[in-house]
This record gives sequence, C-alpha cells and structure tokens, in this order.
Amino acid sequence: MIYAVVNQKGGVGKTTSAVNIAACAAGMGNRVLLVDADPQANATSGILGRERLGPGALTTMDVLLDGASVAAARMATVVPGLDLIPSGPDLAGASVEMVGRVAREGLMRSALAGTAAEYQHVFVDCPPSLDLLTINALVAADRLIVPVQCEYYALEGLSRLMETIGEVRARLNPALVVGGLLLTMHDPRTRISGEVVGEVRTHFPGLVLDAVIPRNVRVTESPSFGEPVVRYDPNCAAARAYTEVTEEVLARG
Ligand SMILES: Nc1ncnc2c1ncn2[C@@H]1O[C@H](COP(=O)(O)OP(=O)(O)OP(=O)(O)O)[C@@H](O)[C@H]1O
Ligand SMILES: [Mg+2]
Repeated sequence: MIYAVVNQKGGVGKTTSAVNIAACAAGMGNRVLLVDADPQANATSGILGRERLGPGALTTMDVLLDGASVAAARMATVVPGLDLIPSGPDLAGASVEMVGRVAREGLMRSALAGTAAEYQHVFVDCPPSLDLLTINALVAADRLIVPVQCEYYALEGLSRLMETIGEVRARLNPALVVGGLLLTMHDPRTRISGEVVGEVRTHFPGLVLDAVIPRNVRVTESPSFGEPVVRYDPNCAAARAYTEVTEEVLARG
C-alpha cells in the first residue's frame, strides 16, 4: 500500500505525520519505505539520527528522473525496518525537469512499482504545493493522508486539494482513496482547536480519523535528534496518538 501525506498548505504536520506513522508501522513489524519528496528534506534530516547524507548519496530526484533504482537509493534509518529514499536540494528542480518528460505525472508510480515485493507500506512525504511532484505522489498513491492543523484557516485550501484529488482520480488514478484527514497540533486549552475539530468533521463526514494529534513540545524537539517522536519519547501524548493513528490508518486498509 502506498500512502501519500499531502496538503499544499505549509507547516500543517505532513512531515511529522509521515515520519511518525512510517516509524509506527515499522514498529508493528512491517517493512516500510519512506520517500522524501520534499526539497526541504525535513523527513530526511528527521530520521537519520546523527548521520548526514554523503555527497554521492542518491536521492528521490535520481529515482524519479535519472533511472536510479529504489534498491540503490534507499538507506537504513534509526528505526529498524524503516528505509528512506532521501531528498536533497536538487529535488527543487524536479518539477521543472518533469515537464519535459513523457508520461510526466506517472514517474513516481513507475519508480515505486516494484516496492510491493519488499515493503508492506510506502509513505511519501509531499512538499507544500500542488506542483508536479505532488501530482506524481497522488498518481502513485493508493491512499492519501491529509494532515489538517487545528488552527485558524485550517479549511483554507482543502476544497482546492479535494478538487485536485478528484481530477487525478478521474484521469490518472481511479483507485485513489482519501485514507483520512488527520487533525494535528490540537491544543485543548484553545477554543479554536475545538472549533476546527468540529468544523472539519462536519465538512468531511466519515473522512476524518478518530485519533487527534495533540500539540506537544516533544514533537518539536525530536527532529534535532534525527528521531521520530515515537522513538524519542514513546510515552508522550503525541507519540501515543501517532500509534493510535497508525493502527487506524492500517486498519482502514
Ligand atoms: N503535534 C505537534 N506538536 C507540536 N509541534 C508540532 C506538532 N506537529 C508538528 N509540529 C511542528 O510544526 C512545524 C511544522 O510541522 P511539519 O514540518 O511536520 O509540517 P509540514 O506540513 O511538513 O511543513 P511543510 O509544509 O513546510 O513541509 C514543525 O516545526 C513541527 O515540529
Ligand atoms: Mg514537510
């Protein structure tokens, strides 16, 4: 199963969710691949511990556009069972370079086609845009996870995203399913958080995952140690919520 973690709105918790759900899925005994499809490379730096990418490391760019195999580009992470195809700044040019390619929307789908033989789950961390890189993830994916931050303007952009998902489904990937909207950075002390939860559940009945990720300082600390929070502090509230979300996402199938 290939999951894309997508929302063109920035800073809503895509990378945090991709990294932690992938880590939880691996912790449950699955072989899992995380694909960093964001030139910002936050997922890459957030999961490699003290390691740094070597100068010759292959990245998602090489896999999508230069014919590098998943087997050649993947690397082990701090989480047993979880491999990573890293990103780097070179990926910033990917969207532009893709434009000139044949079947440009299907490059990621082709590149990941063989992964099912080895991995039970693949998670793709998308950039905050609806550019060709994200479209490639939508075409490659079976399921989408859409993080929604419990803040003002949470719904902003969601209808545009749903339209894009509809177009991709109609033309390129009929099997694409929204696996769940995931409410992130919930703060029970603020009224807005509760309002957003209510609003999103009303607008998208049946699509919102039950588990809600609380705002938690341990989440902000963990990337500087190169670890997902579910490993950095498995008992904190956010880590426990990510475990619940992962069970829910995998159970939805
Ligand atoms: N549950 C949480 N509690 C506290 N801080 C959080 C939580 N989830 C995410 N954050 C913080 O919010 C910021 C944005 O999160 P993240 O990088 O996961 O979002 P993103 O959607 O991937 O951003 P971008 O659009 O730039 O790729 C980060 O600094 C992250 O540490
Ligand atoms: Mg991100």
